[in-house]
Amino acid sequence: MFLIRECVLNTPGYVPGEQPKYGNLIKLNTNENPYPPPFELLPVLQDELSKLNLYPDPVCSKLRETAAIIYGVSSDMIITGNGSDDILNIAIRTFVNPGETIAFLDVTYSLYETLALVHGASMRKIPTNGEFELSQPIICPEAKLIFFASPNPPLGKHLNRQYLEATCAKTTGIVVIDEAYVNFADYDHLDLLQKYDNLILVRTMSKAYSLAGARVGFGIASKSVLEQMNKVRDSYNVDRLAQALATAAFQHQENYQQIWDKIRQTRKRLITSLRDLDFFVFDSEANFVLASPKWIPASQLYTQLREKEVLVRYFNHPRILDYVRISVGTDPEIHRLLETIQYLKAQRA
Ligand SMILES: Cc1ncc(COP(=O)(O)O)c(C=O)c1O
Repeated sequence: MFLIRECVLNTPGYVPGEQPKYGNLIKLNTNENPYPPPFELLPVLQDELSKLNLYPDPVCSKLRETAAIIYGVSSDMIITGNGSDDILNIAIRTFVNPGETIAFLDVTYSLYETLALVHGASMRKIPTNGEFELSQPIICPEAKLIFFASPNPPLGKHLNRQYLEATCAKTTGIVVIDEAYVNFADYDHLDLLQKYDNLILVRTMSKAYSLAGARVGFGIASKSVLEQMNKVRDSYNVDRLAQALATAAFQHQENYQQIWDKIRQTRKRLITSLRDLDFFVFDSEANFVLASPKWIPASQLYTQLREKEVLVRYFNHPRILDYVRISVGTDPEIHRLLETIQYLKAQRA
């Protein structure tokens, strides 16, 4: 064990949500898109299959050009990743020396902490208020990198836009705004890229584009920032199939827009129904909701739902012990969830 870096030895490691290997579970635990990608992507896979003996395009030219049109930026403002997690990792390795500080909110995507720990960085956890929201811009002069997610999990709401912008303006470090869930919200932060050279926006094909299994993410930032990040990126970090699938997926915006609208409708119904079932539920701008049952401890609800083959997420985090996070599934999946909750509630009455 003496060979292992101390920071790695002392890190528990990231714990991903359960990916069940058997059974008929209703899977509402990892914020995947419940709808499959369009079947029109199938021929793309067949085409690429015959070329799998060749390495993929190391700079993902076609994918970046297509993404650039969607995001309204030039393709040299885009870096590709093996999922957006890869982009987060590249950002740390580009801008933070071990021992230097990475800041993020006390309640947010837990991978930020894991990445900081294994890098040997110092961490500054910025307290959120009772609504898990920023109460002011982050003033942290020692932070080389500040991670935000907006919408911010596990709550699912955008962070205060003025405070995000003021943080970009005031900090001397890099600011990452991780927009993994932004297609389910009313607005994004792409416009801020024109104003702030120290900003990296992060996007993913995993949630909105139903491609979590393909692993494609993007960083969008100034050319000078990406020039450095590209030195750190593995040369073939997005495989051939993933590049082709993601490029083709972008051609089906209308199809996806319908899926996003549908998820927003289901989300609205889910929130109303949970409130009717005596839950406290935050409003959400993402494809999940954070809900606290008033009639059963959240950890018990998680376990009892799992016994009934409905999988939601419970976090052993002191601020959210009373909550479960529920991904917005299809209508039949949400129907089954609500029916099961109704049953469990009746059992306790
Ligand atoms: C805020 C946030 N960022 C990034 C990711 C990871 O996305 P990807 O599948 O692109 O690595 C997740 C996944 O749950 C997330 O919640």
